Parts: sequence; structure tokens; C-alpha cells
Amino acid sequence: MSDSNDRSSHRLYPGRVLAGQKPRPPRYAHIVGWGMEVPEQVLTNRDLEAIVDTNDEWITTRTGIKERRIAAQHETTTTLATRAAQKALDVADILPSELDLIIVATATPEHIFPSTASLVQDRLGATNAGAFDLSAACSGFVYALDVAASKIRTGSVNTVLVIGAETLSRVVDWADRGTCILFGDGAGAVVLEGSSVPGGILSSVLRSDGTGWDLLTLPTVSSRDTYLQDGQHEMHRIYMDGRGVFRFATRVIGESIKEALEQVGLQPDDLDLVIPHQANQRIIVYAAKTLKIPEERVYSNVARYGNTSAASIPIALAEAAAEGRIKAGDIVAFVGFGGGLTWAAMVVEWTAVPSKQAYTLTRGRRKGEYALASVRRSVVRWWRRLMLLSPTTWIVAARRVLTQQRAQFRERRSELRERAQRVMEREGRSKSDRSADAEPSDKEARE
Ligand code: UT7
Repeated sequence: MSDSNDRSSHRLYPGRVLAGQKPRPPRYAHIVGWGMEVPEQVLTNRDLEAIVDTNDEWITTRTGIKERRIAAQHETTTTLATRAAQKALDVADILPSELDLIIVATATPEHIFPSTASLVQDRLGATNAGAFDLSAACSGFVYALDVAASKIRTGSVNTVLVIGAETLSRVVDWADRGTCILFGDGAGAVVLEGSSVPGGILSSVLRSDGTGWDLLTLPTVSSRDTYLQDGQHEMHRIYMDGRGVFRFATRVIGESIKEALEQVGLQPDDLDLVIPHQANQRIIVYAAKTLKIPEERVYSNVARYGNTSAASIPIALAEAAAEGRIKAGDIVAFVGFGGGLTWAAMVVEWTAVPSKQAYTLTRGRRKGEYALASVRRSVVRWWRRLMLLSPTTWIVAARRVLTQQRAQFRERRSELRERAQRVMEREGRSKSDRSADAEPSDKEARE
């Protein structure tokens, strides 16, 4: 950008160009790996008939959903995210230690902090990576991809793991038939890598309209009491105004994809595949209609997994890639929409050509890094516990040990003394008895 076009140049003090700040060649962010993980447990529409007043016919015609996956007790957002990430690393043929950054888009983290991304970083053994969670509800994955691609373009990082992961079954109101039939659990991940080869992520549009914040909510720790006392909302429970969100979604999908296409001089007709957020089959069909593209060019797996929020696009992407629906050179669009309200669209030129041979060569090393990570986790945690003790705590602890040992020593010493005393007394007594038996009395001697 020229100085005359730089809107803020008049407000900036011109900084020095440091010796290390060499002009960099342009970088492009490419998707080089992908993977998904869903729980084994399946909840069908028929199963739901036993939980709420609903039926398979209503759910199928209004949403297109037939079944969804539900996390087992031992499964968490972190475990699903980690498994999806491992599969993406396999496809990318990259070691966890080569990652520079991990971003997890999620609305169902296990903690507000630590981030799910930090827990995944630990489990993978990605010891050189920064990690943070990104909150943009169902648009989260596209937001996270955009952040990752932007960082790659600046040259500050080269290899980024982006994950969308959710365990929505834990925050769904299982008494609300308007929402509990929609959501499911799962995770999807991609690996992005920087390169001077053009292609990869071409453009993106991120938007938000906070006036619609109350159409889709999941109140958590610091929610206002008044909001929670209206009888409609509950802490850690999803609330949705379905019709309101439906109207918003159908309005923004087409608009945002067209805007992202325009940024790179493309038309909807140039799209080989659109991977939308999997919320409702009717919304997916509507997207094809507004873009004036055949329905086959809009990917859908909503029937099998329902709405998995931030995980839905990467899960769909991993399945589309596995099914051969995307090939090198294709133009693919992602579009997400949801709570916030937020929405985001992205256009990508697919460039990945996974190499099977390299995959087998480094698979063992990846497994080694995972094993090392689990050993390191327990060793480091123990060591940290020891190290966290302050010098005063160390001194107090050492004194306590010394005092205990001294007391034990004294106790043992007096015990030994008593025993010795008893032995001596016993020996003294038996000696005097013996001498009494052996020595004749004065009288006997005189006689
Ligand atoms: O990921 C975030 C983005 N979320 C979305 O994109 C969701 C967008 N919204 C939707 O997908 C749809 O609005 C829903 C699927 C949630 C609901 O479909 P709808 O066609 O908008 O239904 P509705 O809420 O207008 O309800 C129609 C009727 C109502 O009965 P009355 O008032 O007409 O007698 C509901 O009580 O359907 C009833 N209903 C049900 N009936 C059987 C609502 N849920 C159910 C149900 N089973 N599960």
C-alpha cells in the first residue's frame, strides 16, 4: 500500500527499519492435513422419541437430521479434538513438535481457562506451539482458520493446527424439543502450512451483529442473574430462537460467500464445492438456491451428525476429502453462522496432494512424540509440584523432617536404653542367684 493510501500514516511516528527486518516474499497458507473424530454412541430420531415429544418424521422434514453422536463419559472436547488433530497430522505428515500454533474453536470448553488448545498441545506433545481457544460459536472454525492464515501470511508462524471441537450434548436442554434434537458431539481439524507457492486460503469475510445476541445463547459463569431469572434461560444450557436464527442464516450465507468470492474476482459458478455449517438441511438447500449452483455442489452430512457447531465444517471437510469430493485445483468455500450473531465465509484453492510414502516414514516418530508427551506430563507435573514450594516452605518442611527424625532417634535410644537396663538387671539378678548357690555361708565354711 502506498503512503498516500495509508489512512493512518499521518498519526504514526515513523519507526526505524531494523537490520533484522528484511522484506519477506509473499506467503500463502495451504491446508495440508485434515481429520475428524466423532463418538461411537449414536442417538437416532427414534431414540429421541423416548426423551421428548417429537417424532422421526418432524425432525427429518424440518432439519434433515437422522442421527447424531453423543460423547461417552470418558470423552471430552479435548479428547475428541486431540484424536481429530492426530489424524490431521498424519495426513499432513507433520510432527507435533513442528507446530507453531494451535487454535481450538469451541463453545464447549472444559474450562474457561486453561484453554482446550493448551490441553491438546500437552496431549500432542507440541512443545514449540502457542495455544488459545477462539469463541465465535458455529462460525468459530472459519474465524480460527482466518486468524491462522493471517499469521502465516505475516511470516510470524509457519505451521498451525486449527480445530473445531464440541461436546454439545453436555449443554443441551434435554427437555427442550426445539433444541435437543439438533445438536451432536464431534471434532474436526486441519493443518495449515505456509509456502511461497500461490493458492490455499484466498479470501475471507468475518462479520458480527451483536444486536441478535439473545437469539442463541449459552450462559456461563458471569451471566447476569436477571437474565437467568426469566424462567427461559438456565446456566450452562443452550437456548435458541430457532426461527430467528433460521431467518438470519438464510440471509447471510449467500451474501458472505459472494463477498469472499468478489475479493478474488471469482463468481459462484467457479465454486466446485461449498462446505456450509451443518445446521439444517433446509438452510443448506437454500444456500445452493441463492448461489444458483446445483445442490450436489453443497456438501451435507447433517443427517448423520446433526449440528456440531464449530466442529461441523472441519468434520464435513474431512469427510468430503476422504470421499474424493475435493481435488487439487478446486475452488472450495466454507461458510459458518451462529451465536453472536456471527457469520464468516472463506474461499480456498485446494492445493493438497498428500504423500502416502512420507506418511509411513514419520508415523512412528509421531507416535513416539505422543508417548513422550504422556510421560513428560506426569514427570513435569511432579517436578513442578516440588519446585513450587517456596524457600520458606522448603525450610519448614526440612525442619519438620529433622524434628521428626530427632524425635524418632530419641525414642529409639530410650527404647534401647530401657532394653539394655532390663538385660543388665536380669543378668545381675541371675549372677547374684548363681553366686548365692555356689558360695557357702560363713557358718558352713567355718564348719
Ligand atoms: O448452529 C446455530 C445455528 N442454528 C440454526 O441454524 C438453527 C436454525 N433454525 C432451525 O433450524 C429451525 O428453526 C428449527 C429446526 C430449530 C425449528 O424448525 P421450524 O420449522 O422453525 O419450527 P418452529 O420452531 O417454527 O416450530 C413449528 C412447530 C411448533 O408447533 P406449533 O407452535 O406450530 O404448534 C413447535 O412447537 O413445531 C413444533 N416443534 C416440534 N414438533 C415436534 C418444535 N420442535 C419440535 C420437535 N418435534 N422436535
